Amino acid sequence: MGKLNRRDMLKLGVLGTAATALPFERLATASGGVSRIAASKLPKPFTVPFAVPPVAVPKPRTWDNGHDYYEISQEAARVEILPGYKSDLWAYNGIPGGPTIKVKRGRPAVVRQINNLPATHPTLGYESTTSTHLHGSGSLPQYDGYASDVTPPGEWKDYKYPNYQDARTLWYHDHGVHHTAENAYMGLAAMYIMTDDLEQSLPIPHGDYDIPLIIRDAMFDSSGNLTYDDNSHSGLYGDVILVNGRPWPIMKVERRKYRFRFLNASISRGYTFALSTGDPFTVIGTDGGLMQFPQQTTKFRQGMAERYEVVIDFAKYPIGQRVVLQNLGVKNAVDFDGTGNVMAFDVVSEPTDLRGNAIPDLLNPNPPAMDLVPTNNMKTRRFEFIRTNGMWTVNGKTWHDVIDSKYEYVWANPGLGDTEIWEFVNTSGGWFHPIHVHLVDFKVLDRNGTPPFNYELGPKDVVYVGENETVRVIAKFGPHQGKYMMHCHNLVHEDHDMMAQFQVGPPGTGDDPIWADPCQKLPAPEL
Ligand code: C2O
Ligand code: CU
Ligand code: CU
Repeated sequence: MGKLNRRDMLKLGVLGTAATALPFERLATASGGVSRIAASKLPKPFTVPFAVPPVAVPKPRTWDNGHDYYEISQEAARVEILPGYKSDLWAYNGIPGGPTIKVKRGRPAVVRQINNLPATHPTLGYESTTSTHLHGSGSLPQYDGYASDVTPPGEWKDYKYPNYQDARTLWYHDHGVHHTAENAYMGLAAMYIMTDDLEQSLPIPHGDYDIPLIIRDAMFDSSGNLTYDDNSHSGLYGDVILVNGRPWPIMKVERRKYRFRFLNASISRGYTFALSTGDPFTVIGTDGGLMQFPQQTTKFRQGMAERYEVVIDFAKYPIGQRVVLQNLGVKNAVDFDGTGNVMAFDVVSEPTDLRGNAIPDLLNPNPPAMDLVPTNNMKTRRFEFIRTNGMWTVNGKTWHDVIDSKYEYVWANPGLGDTEIWEFVNTSGGWFHPIHVHLVDFKVLDRNGTPPFNYELGPKDVVYVGENETVRVIAKFGPHQGKYMMHCHNLVHEDHDMMAQFQVGPPGTGDDPIWADPCQKLPAPEL
C-alpha cells in the first residue's frame, strides 16, 4: 500500500472520531455534499433505448482441451452515459456493464484479467489495484477474488473457473481490498451466465427473450463525470438509475413472455420492484439458478448482489401499452425524484417466435441446497453485523483483524462436507445488510422465525438481512477446502470493514488464496 490518505487513516483509526461521530441517521437522510448535475440535464425517463451488453468472444483455438479462454482488459474508457456528456469510467474491455461471459456447465473457463488501469483513481487518488471475483462460482481460493489477492496496474492474473454448478446467473466484479466500492462504482461489474442441459430443455424463454438487467444507481457532476460520495461510509445513493449502463431505458417488447435476469449491482441501494400495471411477476430463479417451483409475486425486495430470474408476460397487454418497472424503495435507502423508476417496456408487436413461451410447474427438481434440512445436533453459528466505533464489524471484528493476523484469523471453521446453520443478526433499525457467503449456495430457513418470502425459495448466496432482522440459512461447505470470505454486500460496509473469512477443512488446508497463483507483471505470454 502506498501513502495513507485520509480515508485509509480513518480505517486504521489514526484520525480522531470527528467524521464518524456524526449522527448516522442524519447522514443517511442527507443528500450528500457533492455537486450533482442539474435534474434538467438528465434524460427524461424512458427516452434512452434499452440495450443488452455484448457477449464476450472466447479466444479462438486450433485445438480444444475442454476449456474456454477469455482475455479481459480492465481499462479506463470515456463513454456516453448521459446523452450529450462523456463520463470517465473503468470497465472490463472498456464496456460499461459488459462484456457478458456465457458458458456451458461442465466446460471450465480461464479468464485472464489484465489490469490496464491508470496508476491511481482520477479523483480519489488511491492506487488502482484490483481483484476479480466471480460471484456465484465455487472457485478454488486463489481464483475467488480474495480481497487481499490484488493485481496492481501493469500486472495480470489468470482466473480458472470450474463451472460445475447448476445453470445460474453469476457476475464478475471487483473485490480489491478497501476499494471494492469505488472500483465497482467506476464500472468494474459485469454478468456471467451459465447454462446447462436441464435449463436449456425447459420451455422457458431463451435466446432473444432471455435478457440481463444489470441495475445500479449513480450520480454525476455537472461535467457528466461520476462522483463518489459514501456519506461517511454509510452508503452511496445515486439519483440516476442505470440498466445495463443506460439511464432509465425504454425497451420494445412483443406480446409474449420474457425472462429477465435481475442483478442489483448497486453499491448500497436496495430496491423493491413492481410493475405499473400491478400485475405479478413470476420468479423462476434465484442466485444459485432455477428454483424448484415458480413463484408469483407483485413485488420483490432485492438487496445488492442478489439475482432473481423473473418472467414478465406481455401477452395480456394490447399493442401500444407501456409497462413501467418501478422501484418502490426500501427502508434506509435515500430516494430521489428519479429513483422510483427503473425502466419501461413498450408493447409494440405480436410475437415473432413462440418457442420458450411457457413456465412449467416444475423447474429444477433438485437444486442441491434446497435438500438441506436442519437437524438437532447441527452446528449453528451466529454472526452479528454491527457498527462499532464507526467501523462496520462482524462479531466485533473486521478484515483488518485478518490482515493483522497475516490472513490466519477465521470466524468459522466448518469441516469439508459439513452442513451448518448460519444465523445472521442485524439488531439495528438504521440500516440493512445483504449478507453474502462465498463458495456455497444456501437455503434460507427463516427470517425472525417466519418463513422466507416465496421468491426466496431457491438456492441463494446472498440474503437480505433487513432492519432488526435475524435470518437463518443452511449450507453444505465444500467442495473445496481453504479460506473464503463472507461479508456485507453494501460495498461501502464491506470496505470499512464488514468482511469476515472462514476456513473449510482443517486449518492450513486448501490452496493459499494469495500465494497459490499470484498475479504477474506484463507482458503476459500468449493465452
Ligand atoms: Cu459479490 Cu464477495 O462478492
Ligand atoms: Cu461471491
Ligand atoms: Cu452492511
